[in-house]
Amino acid sequence: MSAEETVRLDRKHLWHPFTPNSVWMDPAFHPVSIVAGEGSWLIDAQGKRYLDGNSSIWTNLHGHRHPGLDEAIRTQLGKIAHSSFLGLTHEPAARLAEELIAYVQGGQNSPPLSRVFFSDDGSTAMEAGLKMIVQSFAQTGQPQRTHFISPEGAYHGDTVGAMSLGQSDLFHRHYQSLLFPSRRVMTPFCYRCRFNRAKPETADARSYRECGFECATQAEEEIAKAGDRLAAWVLEPRVQGAAGMVMHPKGYARRTSDAARKAGARVLLDEVLTAFGRTGPALSAHAEGVSADVVALAKGLSGGYLPLAATLATEEIFQAFDGPTENTFFHGHSYTANALGCAVARASLKLLQDPEEKRRHETLQRNLRELSQTFWQHPKVGDIRQEGTILAVEVVADRSSRKPFPAPERRGARICQAARNFGLLTRPIGDVLVLMPPYSTKAEELEQMVTALQKAIAKELPK
Ligand SMILES: Cc1ncc(COP(=O)(O)O)c(C=O)c1O
Repeated sequence: MSAEETVRLDRKHLWHPFTPNSVWMDPAFHPVSIVAGEGSWLIDAQGKRYLDGNSSIWTNLHGHRHPGLDEAIRTQLGKIAHSSFLGLTHEPAARLAEELIAYVQGGQNSPPLSRVFFSDDGSTAMEAGLKMIVQSFAQTGQPQRTHFISPEGAYHGDTVGAMSLGQSDLFHRHYQSLLFPSRRVMTPFCYRCRFNRAKPETADARSYRECGFECATQAEEEIAKAGDRLAAWVLEPRVQGAAGMVMHPKGYARRTSDAARKAGARVLLDEVLTAFGRTGPALSAHAEGVSADVVALAKGLSGGYLPLAATLATEEIFQAFDGPTENTFFHGHSYTANALGCAVARASLKLLQDPEEKRRHETLQRNLRELSQTFWQHPKVGDIRQEGTILAVEVVADRSSRKPFPAPERRGARICQAARNFGLLTRPIGDVLVLMPPYSTKAEELEQMVTALQKAIAKELPK
């Protein structure tokens, strides 16, 4: 089928996530129709090659068509693709659970995660997590613990529970009546923090902030105030993705998680984006020695191959579901623990722990850090922040005042659209440009990604 025919059928019948109709249906807009992938490259129907600059919406770890991952799926397919997980079990899930639990240990001051509940994506992993927490409290004599607190701008997915924990007026305004109330505290966002007295510099705003760490204090106070009504402190540790790759100052995750434990509440970590080395360590929270009572994993779990997610919990939480049958966790999905997904996730975990792959990953982080500094050459770059292999470049109307461009100008979207012509695919968050390469990206490919984005910035924001 020709690319034109794909687009014609698409426009007639399909509906895309987070995509304005006015943009998608505009005849002047030419959607890219992907037919193949190869390492860090995506290839369209005309044979044009693009670097996958955001790892296919933050999912892909080892590149497309990785031989080891492809083989894991083929081998499993030779046995069975899927069977129910209600009342049945299978080896790929059992082995993956054991390997995942070993992989994510590393925090301090709390019992280890020992139970894995599989689902399909980030939203369902968070939904399962919040329900586990509420029900486990209800079944252990603390039914009043139903409140959740999270930072402003938090994004945990689009199911009703996940939306309730999230904090986006733009995304959620039509559903307010469906959502349960949850409290918000200020986002720990140094670049745009009203408490940060530092004048803008050409450096990551976290590195030169001048403040009293008010964000952490405010969160601690809110958590203490919620007291024995608090079910959980909910955090995307160190990087709030959809908020605009907001990167937290060091110590925030530690202080706020300690406060939650002190209040007798759970720490629910959303590592949907940040796990599996994306920010460096196995879990992002490990960088601050923080451990979770419940952690949600998705995106990179299957190496970016198949929809698979997991909610990990401590034994204490699992045991709260002991007793009569009405204590059961009445929650699940038809494709829970899909065998193909589990098989490819095991292969991905193995690669993540391979010493040579680890070295390559470290080199990629280092190269990205070095190259990132070249973005300062453009005067409309206001902040550059990086954790692991996540690079965020925020463009502004005026660097000296941090004044943003008016939102309707959609500068970020226009820059990313222009980047396509230079062979790079990525998506912005507002005016925050994101580069998040697959770990398999070679040094020269990374340079090409950076150059393409810089050319696109220069085109859309002439100096
Ligand atoms: C931190 C975080 N949590 C949850 C989600 C929701 O995941 P999904 O889109 O797989 O439902 C996302 C998606 O971007 C995310 O970044």
